[in-house]
Amino acid sequence: MTSAAHPSDVAEHDVPQSYPPSPEFAAAANAGPELQQAADQDRLAFWADQASRLHWHEKWTDVLDWTDAPVAKWFVNGKINVAYNCVDRHVLAGKGDRVAIHFEGEPGDTRDLTYNELLAEVSRAANTFTDLGLVAGDRVAIYMPMIPEAIVTMLACARLGLTHSVVFAGFSATALRSRVDDAEAKLVVTVDGQWRRGQAAALKPAVDEAVADAASVQKVLVVKRTGVDVDWTDGRDLWWHDTVEKASPEHEAQPFDAEHPLFILYTSGTTGKPKGIVHTTGGYLTQASYTHHNVFDHKEGQDVYWCTADIGWVTGHTYIVYGPLSNGVTQVVYEGTPNSPNEHRHFEIIEKYGVSIYYTAPTLVRTFMKWGRQIPDAHDLSSIRLLGSVGEPINPEAWRWFRDVIGGGNVPIVDTWWQTETGAIMISPLPGVTDAKPGSAMAPLPGISAQIVDDAGEVLGNGKSGYLVLDQPWPSMLRGIWGDMQRYRETYWARYADQGWYFAGDGAKYDEDGALWVLGRVDDVMNISGHRISTAEVESALVGHHGVAEAAVVGASDETTGQGIVAFVILREGVENTGDELIGELKAEVSREISPIAKPRQITVVPELPKTRSGKIMRRLLRDIAEGRDLGDTSTLVDPKVFDAIRGR
Ligand code: WT7
Repeated sequence: MTSAAHPSDVAEHDVPQSYPPSPEFAAAANAGPELQQAADQDRLAFWADQASRLHWHEKWTDVLDWTDAPVAKWFVNGKINVAYNCVDRHVLAGKGDRVAIHFEGEPGDTRDLTYNELLAEVSRAANTFTDLGLVAGDRVAIYMPMIPEAIVTMLACARLGLTHSVVFAGFSATALRSRVDDAEAKLVVTVDGQWRRGQAAALKPAVDEAVADAASVQKVLVVKRTGVDVDWTDGRDLWWHDTVEKASPEHEAQPFDAEHPLFILYTSGTTGKPKGIVHTTGGYLTQASYTHHNVFDHKEGQDVYWCTADIGWVTGHTYIVYGPLSNGVTQVVYEGTPNSPNEHRHFEIIEKYGVSIYYTAPTLVRTFMKWGRQIPDAHDLSSIRLLGSVGEPINPEAWRWFRDVIGGGNVPIVDTWWQTETGAIMISPLPGVTDAKPGSAMAPLPGISAQIVDDAGEVLGNGKSGYLVLDQPWPSMLRGIWGDMQRYRETYWARYADQGWYFAGDGAKYDEDGALWVLGRVDDVMNISGHRISTAEVESALVGHHGVAEAAVVGASDETTGQGIVAFVILREGVENTGDELIGELKAEVSREISPIAKPRQITVVPELPKTRSGKIMRRLLRDIAEGRDLGDTSTLVDPKVFDAIRGR
């Protein structure tokens, strides 16, 4: 278990330990204490109320069917269209001229899309997909940077009941291929290239490589984003501007069952094979919309919202696309990196659009801290009225800096705990209700129930660390792992099968005041800048290199990225250790197999790995070495001398 405390944290005297909302904020907040009271009184009636914030073509007959646990059905027999809720509904309510998306391209190009325009674009894409022969239930892979067409594609899929699988555009061709194959995607939507730090980098070649001989793929639809030269496969490849842009902007959304699969999103588990997390329609949208409204205190028509995530991650799905758009948001979508062309970029954007709600990751806050407060201080950030954090524990020092420097010292911060699997925020302060403590996610939201328990399932008292479990089903819960329901049961439900609880994979504790602290993963999953990467995945990429016989990977704490990847490898007989050259090759192998984000910070060639008598690699000990700590108990180890050998290198 990693600790929420961060090495850079200074002694915390003379600073408040708790930050109540200002009376003005509390008075105007969307969520007051009555929300919790309502949920406590009747949880299912509470969720029915939340679902009623959406437009249903047909109302449900039951709120929840849990008889087939752990596969839930929410809003049974309800019929709904997600895109209709995110787009058409606002146009029909007379808000068509409102800007939905302020797009800010990395090279400085901009584009505003109103809800009217978004509806036309989504309809055109939906008509095109229909012309291509796609029908509800088919899968579409989306491999795109943060441009409006990516969001349009997701919404067009949702509109037609096509299940999308967004693959982060930073992932390799190999990673894309395995996801395309697993979901048997018929269509891949991509771009010619993407802008990265002022350079146009081709992306389509990765798709060409990935889909070569992919049995399921019939068409590749390409948005021209950069104009870089790309190869073309006639009969398979289509330009967006030749198809979507010429299609009719009229399309009538059809209702789908509340349990129709909306999307698959792959995430790392404890084995080398990513899990295709399946989310469905009605319950997902209900919780996405409810949490966006209440946790971010979003005020339609007034706020300018910015979530800095990428649509390749669940945060982008739930808090750029479905949650915000269902609430009629006006939001910023930014294509590039925070330091392109320089470190002022985010603050310029906040100033330019008057961003009032800013949701980001602790790793970026720590990067801003490193760059120095003179950068944000050079801008008028007074529009900001709420800040959010997600992806990993935020250390108290970063929390306070975020509030003081970006928030002007007087705005609430919501530290939101959730997962790809939970679909939406589960644990977070309510900004107008909760006295927030820096570093703590505080409490399960109204309608959500969590416990901290020991191995045996005993609920632990305040002050004791244990495992975080979710002891009641929730509307946006995953419905399974694509193609592998057995793994779904084993991964999340086997550990507390007797109790019927969901095992989240995180350690947590309630402190003496009853505030909930998430302490980090307790399994072999690392968290690098808020991105989930499994040790097994990186190990399997490393042993894919011809020179490597065995590899062990651990996440070691890192000042900026939370954790950094540290690898230990044993070379095959007869392979020469060429030092930097070999290490460089191994790092490149991991980038190629998975993504540059999975590239180890450090790789050490070792003669042996510490293993238990049963042959299991002792990662805790490797982590101790990687973090330069004294070794703890090594008594279960086969040969304690291996440490001297490892350290001697
Ligand atoms: C894991 C889920 C949820 C979107 C981004 C990551 C960690 C997430 C917090 C937080 C402490 C957090 C957990 C969780 N995590 N948010 N506020 N405080 N830890 O989604 O890739 O599915 O990763 O991220 O370890 O299990 P994900």
